[in-house]
Amino acid sequence: MSKRLTTSAGAPVPSNETSATAGPRGPVLLEDYQLIEKLAHQNRERIPERVVHAKGWGAQGTFTVTHDISRYTRAQLFSKVGNSCEILSRWSTVAGEQGAADAERDVRGFALKFYTEEGNWDMVGNNTPIFFIRDAFKFPDFIRTQKRHPKTNLRSPEAMFDFWAGQPESVHQVTILMSDRGIPKNPMHMHGYGSHTYSLWNDAGERFWVKFHFRCQQPIANYTNEQAEKIVGETRESFQEDLYNAIDDGNFPKWEMNIQVMPEAQAEELDFNPFDLTKVWPHADFPLIPVGMLEFNKNPDNYFQMIENAAFSPSNKVPGIGYSPDKMLQGRIFAYADAHRYRLGTHYDALPANAPKCPVHHYHKDGAMRFFPPKTGHIDAYYEPNQYEESAKADPSVMEPPLKISGDADRYAQEDKDADYVQPRALYEKVLGDDERARLHLNMARAMAPVSEAVKERWYAVLNRVSPAYEAGVRKAAKDLETGNIDDYPGIPVTGDTPVRAAE
Ligand code: NDP
Ligand code: HEM
Repeated sequence: MSKRLTTSAGAPVPSNETSATAGPRGPVLLEDYQLIEKLAHQNRERIPERVVHAKGWGAQGTFTVTHDISRYTRAQLFSKVGNSCEILSRWSTVAGEQGAADAERDVRGFALKFYTEEGNWDMVGNNTPIFFIRDAFKFPDFIRTQKRHPKTNLRSPEAMFDFWAGQPESVHQVTILMSDRGIPKNPMHMHGYGSHTYSLWNDAGERFWVKFHFRCQQPIANYTNEQAEKIVGETRESFQEDLYNAIDDGNFPKWEMNIQVMPEAQAEELDFNPFDLTKVWPHADFPLIPVGMLEFNKNPDNYFQMIENAAFSPSNKVPGIGYSPDKMLQGRIFAYADAHRYRLGTHYDALPANAPKCPVHHYHKDGAMRFFPPKTGHIDAYYEPNQYEESAKADPSVMEPPLKISGDADRYAQEDKDADYVQPRALYEKVLGDDERARLHLNMARAMAPVSEAVKERWYAVLNRVSPAYEAGVRKAAKDLETGNIDDYPGIPVTGDTPVRAAE
């Protein structure tokens, strides 16, 4: 039997199709409250889209610990092999608005929420191990160059390359962006990275610096510009379709969580700053240590409730996991919860996507849309400290070990300018093969084509410092584009109808 339709206050509704009117030809009576409620609610259906990463695709699943890392961390989740918890992920593009096409060249967001017994732990990373800049001060300017020009209302390659040429540390990330991995086939065929250096600490009070890697268990697969253009011509929602259908068909995507670990003292001895977000930790020096497996096996029943309302924040950590001095991470610890209060409201953490799956006790009080009772543990305990035994009390046993800090408070720029070119050079000269380099040259030349000569020359100078061959390759590709001589550039090898680069 069907349910009885009601107003939001629960009163039965006599008709959901005809307005109450004075006579059969109208006008409409102001007293038709049901009509007014329906129209008023529609006006409030949209919430602000995320200021960045507005377009996204998400899924729910399970994380299971497969390897013991309890010597590094006291986090309950990692206390035993076989432990598991529910997880939520949202993957996204960065620059496009909510209606942007999925198969665009952009960095992809890779946000994870682990609902642990000790609270929510969020890992708000990307599909790249590094970022364009190393100081949060530059983030709003950087994002401005990725968004629309105030006059033309179009995206501006001139602004992008002008900014990047002035911030040579960006060349590492720009190289990845212009490489094959700049257009993944869909979220299921890319790695995820925590990107920042975080910390783990154990019961003995030892701290380890750590990087998180989420190794894709599906083959890495990417599109060329031409393939992506064709896809976008057919559907703007290719990532949503692929992800939703895969999970609906029971093909659950998986990622293996790995960590790289550096004992606290070693950070002092390195020849690069391990807290610089524009740098990776080389695998040879810091091998990947497997931790567990993420499997996404459920499409959310309601996209808005679970994905649009999801509030991921690098500030969400649990005992045994901590931050690092990374300047970008420090900025992000502020920015996300602030964005959530604006985008979702004061009590965003009580929404179903964000509500912890463990007991929650705090003294935050009232506010807009306060729809849950006090969580202090005792009706008279609306302040703290108080006399009530069963009321919520802080637990000193989850205090992080102290962190030694030295130096003068000041505003510091990068000390060693040459260091910015070392890792992009390794990527360009050693990791990429000839065909990948050729595609990188062509992708970059295409992206630079609308840019002024002055900005191009500044960017070529940056490429030259990575490798003279890089500069020469992009210059040649620019000429080849002008003359239409690009037939010899290799495509991405195709397996069946899927361009696949075999996973190692
Ligand atoms: P390795 O040879 O051990 O690792 C190279 C890494 O590069 C692999 O993880 C590989 O992923 C990844 N890779 C391959 N092609 C691309 C691409 N187009 N864009 C981004 N990543 C790609 O080398 P090192 O650890 O010594 O690092 C050398 C360089 O590799 C670094 O300077 C950095 O640019 C890049 N890199 C390093 C990572 C790290 O954490 N050490 C992580 C990712 C990139 P896969 O295994 O799927 O082939
Ligand atoms: C989203 C700020 C750097 C990954 C966001 C949002 C803000 C923001 C305000 C929207 C949040 C929301 O409304 O829910 C910043 C600032 C940065 C920064 C100030 C630098 C100081 C980074 C870096 C990464 C990253 C370095 C990855 C390593 C993401 C992801 C999302 C996001 C994945 C989308 C999360 C989701 O799916 O809901 N960022 N960001 N950001 N950011 Fe950042």
